[in-house]
Amino acid sequence: MELLERLTIIPDRAQQVVVLTGAGISAESGVPIFRGTGSMWEDPLARRLAARAGPPWNTKATWEFYEWRRALVARCEPNTAHRTLVAMESYFTNFCLITQNVDGLHRRAGSKNLLELHGNMWQGRCPSDGALVDLPDTPLSSLPPYHSCGTALRPHVVQFGEPIDPTILSESLKASMRADLFFVIGTSGVVAPARDLPLLALNKGAKVIEINREETVLTPHVTVSIRGKAAEILPRLWNELLEKAGVRDAPKPY
Ligand code: OAD
Repeated sequence: MELLERLTIIPDRAQQVVVLTGAGISAESGVPIFRGTGSMWEDPLARRLAARAGPPWNTKATWEFYEWRRALVARCEPNTAHRTLVAMESYFTNFCLITQNVDGLHRRAGSKNLLELHGNMWQGRCPSDGALVDLPDTPLSSLPPYHSCGTALRPHVVQFGEPIDPTILSESLKASMRADLFFVIGTSGVVAPARDLPLLALNKGAKVIEINREETVLTPHVTVSIRGKAAEILPRLWNELLEKAGVRDAPKPY
């Protein structure tokens, strides 16, 4: 089956390409999603740890939940979808990857122009001065970890109801408004403001391509929606785009 049958796209290097990812892109790596089949909440331990976690978000209980998640992700590797996005970044002059994921797998795959809307579980944040501290090792030697100023760090993760970092949000909005091509991959599209970005791009004239194993609230609005696993669909789609454009020299590190 040609994935591009309904899509009139030539991957011109000069296009502004924006990608929004959600938990589904990491599903093939073994990281559980948040909603539906395969969700993190199917595990009673996750529910128990999350129930005790906070607020406040800088307690031992908060870190016990995040240590559980960090240990799980530490066993996972970026998959072919993450790596295809790295290849796409090196092909397009203007490429921006916006992720809702806090698992750090895009960074580990090698993505550079990356906006982490909801933070990153491999960093702690100081509630008193906002400093970010890399915490690459799990388990941590003590819970909670402390900043050099003496304040207990919190995970650098946006909790439900908390605002997104205004700089990250503004860059995400700007990139989305300029997009010619917008890929929305593995997100249920129910959490704002991320869910608004593809719609904004669409309103500004971008072609929006959704990749998801299921129909979502975004599906009726997008230019084309492709059903399937991101780790299978995205590399195939990328190959087809390159073939269609007659491009032979694009990186294919997957
Ligand atoms: P969800 O769990 O809400 O949605 C995951 C989506 O991925 C669903 O639409 C699935 O159908 C799809 N999916 C699952 N496996 C897939 C695969 N192999 N290939 C392609 N698609 C697949 O996750 P998000 O939309 O990322 O926020 O959730 C958004 C936010 O809600 C998260 O960032 C998190 C959560 O509350 C915070 O932690 C602040």
